Amino acid sequence: MKYSVGYFQFKPELFESEKNLLKMKRSLKSVSADLIVLPELATSGYIFNSKKELESIAEDPRKGPTAQLFRELAAQNNTSYVVGFAEKDNAKIYNSSMLVNPDQEIFIYRKTHLFFEEKKWFTPGNSGFKVFSAKNGIKIGLMICFDWIFPESARSLALQGAQIIAHPANLVLPWCQQAMITRSLENRIFAITANRIGKEINLEREFEFTGMSQITDEKGNILSRADKIEEKVNIVDIDPGKALDKNITEFNHAFKDRRTKWYHL
Ligand code: ACM
Repeated sequence: MKYSVGYFQFKPELFESEKNLLKMKRSLKSVSADLIVLPELATSGYIFNSKKELESIAEDPRKGPTAQLFRELAAQNNTSYVVGFAEKDNAKIYNSSMLVNPDQEIFIYRKTHLFFEEKKWFTPGNSGFKVFSAKNGIKIGLMICFDWIFPESARSLALQGAQIIAHPANLVLPWCQQAMITRSLENRIFAITANRIGKEINLEREFEFTGMSQITDEKGNILSRADKIEEKVNIVDIDPGKALDKNITEFNHAFKDRRTKWYHL
């Protein structure tokens, strides 16, 4: 089955939710694909100096402006989207992503492994790693950025039947893109890492993000990789059915050969 998947790599502006949503709308409104992944905290930017600052851009996961825009795009383009946003749940704020489907359904993932000073402002995710159906029933596993460094994240999703991992990111360390090749290979799944680009500064705090968004296949091939600085939508055709075959050789199976009684987890 042919399934077109991609990412939009760009530079969100800090605290400029309206501007960022407009950029996402303009960049995606004429793009035809089955699934498109966008960066972590794509609507708001990344660096906060207080909970109050974070509260100013946090939004309702179903009624907020990010949900509204992506519901509109999903219906118009017959596309599923995964996008990162700051999720307000009463006094708590999660670093979340939403999967928005053409039928208007929304599924939420709350980042499990918070990175660096995110720990000061965000509540650690309590959704767990879950697999959801995207357009045409393709099984999508959701994780966010730093979740990559814990192989249990991708493994948990793959064991539940994920065919594609949708991975919004705001990467600053240099290792994730390489690691996601292995995450794909060891789990025999596709992975789409949608990273942001650019430098962000908020008073004393500053980060340079690494771009190089990518799509990897179930054999660890890189099907698409952006550069470090370009704003770009890239789309490739995949066959998600290939992620259902976990055979490595005639004698080896990625899941059935696991010797779980010897693992210390
Ligand atoms: C990260 O988790 N944003 C590095």
